[in-house]
Amino acid sequence: MSKTLDFLNENHDRFEQELVDILKIPSISSNPDNNDDMLVMAELLKVEMSKIGMKNVQVIETGGHPVVYSEWLDAPGKPTLLIYGHYDVQPVDPVDLWDSPPFEPVVKGDKIFARGSADDKGQIFIHLKAIEACLATQGELPVNVKLIFEGEEEVGSIHLEEFIKDHEDMLNADYVVISDTPMFREGYPGITYGLRGLAYLQVNLRGTNTDLHSGSFGGLVKNPINALVEILAQMKDDVGRILIPGFYDDVLPITDNEHNKLSKLPFSPKEFADSIGAPALFGETGFEDLERLWARPTFDINGIWGGFQGEGAKTVIPAEAHAKVSMRLVANQNPEDIAQKFKSYVESLIPDSMEAEIDAMHGGFGYVTDLDNPGLQAGVRALKKAFGKEVDFLREGGSIPIVKVFADIIKAPVLLMGYGLPDQNAHAPNENFSLTNFHKGIESIIYFFDEVGQL
Ligand code: BES
Ligand code: MN
Ligand code: MN
Repeated sequence: MSKTLDFLNENHDRFEQELVDILKIPSISSNPDNNDDMLVMAELLKVEMSKIGMKNVQVIETGGHPVVYSEWLDAPGKPTLLIYGHYDVQPVDPVDLWDSPPFEPVVKGDKIFARGSADDKGQIFIHLKAIEACLATQGELPVNVKLIFEGEEEVGSIHLEEFIKDHEDMLNADYVVISDTPMFREGYPGITYGLRGLAYLQVNLRGTNTDLHSGSFGGLVKNPINALVEILAQMKDDVGRILIPGFYDDVLPITDNEHNKLSKLPFSPKEFADSIGAPALFGETGFEDLERLWARPTFDINGIWGGFQGEGAKTVIPAEAHAKVSMRLVANQNPEDIAQKFKSYVESLIPDSMEAEIDAMHGGFGYVTDLDNPGLQAGVRALKKAFGKEVDFLREGGSIPIVKVFADIIKAPVLLMGYGLPDQNAHAPNENFSLTNFHKGIESIIYFFDEVGQL
């Protein structure tokens, strides 16, 4: 073990240089212009995996962006970890709000700035470097490891569910490990034991065949944007409760034990509001802030458009109106059921004067895992050892829809050991990743392999 830790010190700078190299590739999954970059990224990961001694390294076609897979299975009788992550990143716009170009990584203080640094390339790289350090210094790993990195997480993991179903035996494991979440506070490691799910839809309303002069027609035709905002205004009441019939049917309340853990985390609404420039926070009455953020469902309008958006004024009744809406779900809510309930409720509110089309886009289940499963406890010990601090038990408001699919098909608990920070600016300008967390993360995964090997 001490040789392995020495290896980390000796290769400290090289690890950072290699991280810079993978962050230079603009692997934006949603933009077809970047399709070649996705392949370059997948090939680079393949080379990295081969270099560190992973076996059966493959770039596998999916019908979309490929999956990169490899394994090291020479620890007979020991548990198997399936380590999942994503090599695709979000688009960079608005690009002029970045202090440095998103794919020209720069280090400032303890942080490396680049798109994908925290979400999720920096975090998948932690695992590669931990494996490298063990194999280089011990010639073996104390556990069996399978790596699966996908290129479509940021677009809803479109092909991954089918891939997992088709490769059930190949992916079979005792634990699924994911590093794709933030810690709650700097210096304190965290284990995320719950994620929210998601249901995402688009609503299109059409009132007439063409835009109309609002003087010649106003008063006798219904305006689709008026209709749309009237409908959407009925999704929530003024204390933040969602009004879609049946919406809360499957919501599970948090347990007393969770409630205790949650209330011990230091959270200042004022600091939180200040950090995002909000005059005040708003949330559903009757719940604590972190509960609202992690364990209560939401309804949000993500975008709304139609009509005249240009300079000056135009007296027009638009023909159409559109909105994209999404709901963060909590464990036990079924995204398809929720999408259906939203659809039925909206349909019941459409006036006779409108034609509506409501399309479900993507979604996924939330997830909550058992806090006392042995793998999670091994993770707690490893994180504590590397960071020298007690571990925060977290749920997260974000979603990784494939987590529930892994849990159901691989039938293994999913451990979310994440190394991001609250100010990582994921999906936003100036995304960044803490280099301290990068190096301590590698150390913690080495301890984690050891802990799991002893289970
Ligand atoms: N890494 C995030 C998930 C995440 C975000 C976990 C915040 C914890 C806190 C992931 O890459 C992501 O962005 N997920 C999307 C899912 C969507 C594209 C289906 C999300 O949460 O919006
Ligand atoms: Mn991610
Ligand atoms: Mn993301």
